Amino acid sequence: MPRAMPVVILTLFAVSASAQVLTGRQVFEHTCHTCHARGVAGAPQFGNRKAWRAHLAKGIKVLYRHAIHGYYGYSFMPPKGGDESLTDSEVRAAVRYMVAAAAARP
Ligand code: HEC
Repeated sequence: MPRAMPVVILTLFAVSASAQVLTGRQVFEHTCHTCHARGVAGAPQFGNRKAWRAHLAKGIKVLYRHAIHGYYGYSFMPPKGGDESLTDSEVRAAVRYMVAAAAARP
């Protein structure tokens, strides 16, 4: 019986680890939403192509870096939207979610 333990532990670890990874949409709704849903404090509003045009023009890599580390432009975007518990890849997923929404609408 003890020989089965590592398998049980590994399985539990894999299940809990995968359950904790948030999708871009979940990260947006949990964290980024506060400012980006309505465009608070100069944040480019979700789904608003015009508001996003100048941001999109920087390229996705710059957007990733600014979302992860924060930056001052005409206003201030806090690192990871102020939620340091997010992983870099979760923040990148949220950026892709927002960029896709901005590019899809007229
Ligand atoms: C406290 C408010 C706030 C929160 C929360 C927030 N943002 Fe922002 N964000 C801003 C503001 C303000 C700007 C515009 C900054 C500027 O251009 O001066 C911005 C800009 C951006 C940009 C454009 C970057 C660029 O280089 O043009 C991206 C991408 C972005 N945010 C992603 C996110 C993501 C992803 C989250 C959630 C993890 C998030 N933001 C949460 C306020 C916020």
